[in-house]
Amino acid sequence: MIYSPKVLKHFKNPHNQGVIKNADAIGQEGNPTCGDVMRIYLKVGEKKSGKAKTAKSEPFIKEIKFETLGCAAAIAVSSAMTDLAKGKTFKEAMRLTKDKIVKDLGGLPPVKVHCSMLGLDALHQAIKNYELKKR
Ligand code: FES
Repeated sequence: MIYSPKVLKHFKNPHNQGVIKNADAIGQEGNPTCGDVMRIYLKVGEKKSGKAKTAKSEPFIKEIKFETLGCAAAIAVSSAMTDLAKGKTFKEAMRLTKDKIVKDLGGLPPVKVHCSMLGLDALHQAIKNYELKKR
């Protein structure tokens, strides 16, 4: 199996791997194909957006970490995904796609593309959990 140099770089030195104690939100997702599990931890901040008079406060990802029992591709994708998601508002983070992340990594072997969903699904789950908690 051939991985791009960027995938190997993220796998050998993953960014944002670990746990956030007292996380504001946690999302967990399992991959039914292989049985691997991914957990995403978020610290959430508030950002003003729009013009000063009508500016609204929006939640954004202040800090993000991942923990996984996944394969090399899942680790590399989660590392790249957390880099892309950090600092984004929830709306922006919900627009991140697997295609964007895989492209950012210089591609993945086709058999490993399903692994790229794990981190993203767990991130979206963490955002939904945060929003449910705030209602
Ligand atoms: Fe399970 Fe890649 S084989 S996440």
